[in-house]
Amino acid sequence: MYTDQLKRIEQLKKENNAIILAHNYQPPEIQDAADIIGDSLELAVKAREVTEDTIVLCGVRFMAETAKVLNPEKTVILPAADAGCPLADFLTPEMVREARLAHPGAAVVLYVNSDTAAKAEADIVCTSANAVDVVRSLKETTILFGPDSNLADYVASQVPEKEIIPLPKGGHCYVHALFTCDDVIAAAEQGCMTICHPECRREVRRGADVVASTGGMVKMAQNADSWMLLTEKGIAYRLEKLYPEKTFLVREDAVCADMKKITLDLLERSLITGEYAVQLPTDLMDRARVPIERMMALRRK
Ligand code: 13P
Ligand code: SF4
Repeated sequence: MYTDQLKRIEQLKKENNAIILAHNYQPPEIQDAADIIGDSLELAVKAREVTEDTIVLCGVRFMAETAKVLNPEKTVILPAADAGCPLADFLTPEMVREARLAHPGAAVVLYVNSDTAAKAEADIVCTSANAVDVVRSLKETTILFGPDSNLADYVASQVPEKEIIPLPKGGHCYVHALFTCDDVIAAAEQGCMTICHPECRREVRRGADVVASTGGMVKMAQNADSWMLLTEKGIAYRLEKLYPEKTFLVREDAVCADMKKITLDLLERSLITGEYAVQLPTDLMDRARVPIERMMALRRK
């Protein structure tokens, strides 16, 4: 049944000249169906490189919209229309405009986990994989950074020569906010190395052995035999497939409900109906593309 459905999806992909990109937090069956799995930066980069006419983005809305902004001529499909990111909802474009007025001369750096309309107000976009490099690359010494205040705090710790102002104060991911020092202590008691996402709180980041994006976690995993992953539990499936001899522990309650909205049925349906194709006004995409492309250009330097 399961393998039959994967075969049908494979066939539909061919018929539609489509490719499936999936985030590291996607459910196991979606990872099995995907052509490419990665973190936000890797997915954005791949979205620009692929030659297929249609990109099916198995992740959340900001990821599909970023792929669309980078490929306005392609069809980009998000199989679950309501897969959002509550962290992105912390920041509106009006808030960015107001903050600019209050801090003239500051650069606005927005995490890719933000709405396209907010990105259109930014000077440059970043992901968790490159936030530190992006901020270091700027000539401005005052940085308005949103919407994740934990990532802002992480960047501040790595780039102490700059003033990082979180925009807004308190923006956070509810999944990563779950973790506390107790998780770090529990990992140590079990003899595991700890790797945490920079969206975790300061005390967790300070206690962890490694701080990394989900793509960074995939790269770092080879360096130890057992890991406690302080991030969304979906990444464990990817790591267990890549490194079957290693142990990966997660918190069973560390679940992003939006990431789990994509199901195999919705994925198959999306390839049949074309739903839900991302549609954004051309002028908005043109404005949002500028700060995203600025980030992409840094990669090529
Ligand atoms: P990564 O870019 O590290 O995969 O993070 C995306 C995300 O949504 C983290 O919660
Ligand atoms: Fe957004 Fe957090 Fe889910 Fe990532 S894990 S998509 S930041 S809610």
